Amino acid sequence: MGLDHRTALERATEEAFRIPLDTLDISRSDRFAENIHGPFFARLRRDAPVHFCPESMHGPYWSVTRFDDIVAIDADHGTFSSQDNIVIGDAPPEFAPPMFIAADPPVHDVQRRAVTPAVAPQRLSELADLIRVRIAAVLDGLPRGETFNWVDRVSIELTTQMLATLFDFPWEDRHLLPLWSDATTSSETVGNTVITMQRRQEILMECLAYFQRLWAERKAAPPKFDFISLLAHNEATANLADNPLEFLGNLMLLIVGGNDTTRNSMSGGVLALNQFPREYDKLRADPGLIPNMVSEIIRWQTPLAHMRRTALRDVEFRGQQIKKGDRVVMWYCSGNRDERVIERPDDFIIDRSRARHHVSFGFGIHRCMGNRVAELQLQILWEEIMKRFERIEVVGEPKRIASNFVLGYTDLPVRIAA
Ligand code: HEM
Repeated sequence: MGLDHRTALERATEEAFRIPLDTLDISRSDRFAENIHGPFFARLRRDAPVHFCPESMHGPYWSVTRFDDIVAIDADHGTFSSQDNIVIGDAPPEFAPPMFIAADPPVHDVQRRAVTPAVAPQRLSELADLIRVRIAAVLDGLPRGETFNWVDRVSIELTTQMLATLFDFPWEDRHLLPLWSDATTSSETVGNTVITMQRRQEILMECLAYFQRLWAERKAAPPKFDFISLLAHNEATANLADNPLEFLGNLMLLIVGGNDTTRNSMSGGVLALNQFPREYDKLRADPGLIPNMVSEIIRWQTPLAHMRRTALRDVEFRGQQIKKGDRVVMWYCSGNRDERVIERPDDFIIDRSRARHHVSFGFGIHRCMGNRVAELQLQILWEEIMKRFERIEVVGEPKRIASNFVLGYTDLPVRIAA
């Protein structure tokens, strides 16, 4: 946050505007880990908004970095397909289970429709009181006058509780959910432990076995509004568990979709208010700004840096010739910093007008299904925080995840006054 960061950022800015465009690989994870990716995206937005990188560890790919272009690609699922993969790197074939985020219509539409009632507005208003009670309990249990990691104590804990609620997952086993999420998203680590691909697959097989038991229970019981019961009782998905890979894939999607994203928004908000203390003053003066601030947190953090599509045919886009089969990466983290659409985009402004006008949730048929759950959680979290704490102070450097997909933190040391 301090001087060091500014110098690193200045150095990055100089490099970003000097580097020959044909050698610029924007996907490098190290720049995300150091939080110096911003100027490189600014360069692309200015000089090559639809940019081809011929060589990277993921192979060749196109980058789309302006807000309006991202919306255009995301909206055109007939040309830019999600089938089989929505991240820049190809998963090893032995580890790419089908899931509806990585499917085109009609499979996508049928499966998405089946689980949507779990996060519909009506259902969420029924859950709001429960969410508030649980958030209050976590906040009341926090230490005062000593440093602790906000990521572990609050962000992971609350996100896990929310997922357990949406799955109606056995409460005492809920810690398994982030474990399974980590095993899905990272090929190397679970929590802080480095694991092999084989161990990762074992963990996911345990996940599958656990959910197969839940599936059998829910199928035999009357229908309810949790993800599993909805799938088991919907005519279109009632046989999903017969195909264990597809069952596992969709479980992974529902677990991962809400996990890192909401978690990192919970941490990102605390960091943003510390980096922009005048905004914290505004918030204290008017907690009615919370709903608007929640959208601004989600824009500023941009928990998922990108989604990838694959071109289904040769197509010209903004003067560039994209070939059938090419990877096209929509960089949401850049769209959300596009000075053409968002004023002072690097600044965190809690009373920004049109704060909901961001690309963090994507657009089109794959637009985030859990956006309202995430917003509700964050809103209640900040309402309960403001009832209790004058200030949550960040007291050390945050540690960031080295990923070009999930933008977030493993450590955020904070202190709440005694
Ligand atoms: C701040 C929090 C969140 C962010 C930033 C986020 C972001 C996204 C993004 C970028 C997409 C893809 C959009 C596209 O391709 O156009 C997506 C899809 C999805 N998200 Fe979220 N998400 C969040 C929270 C959640 C939560 C809480 C859940 C569920 C409990 C969830 C479940 C899903 C699912 C199931 C999809 C796939 C939708 C589809 O393919 O139709 N997300 N999310």
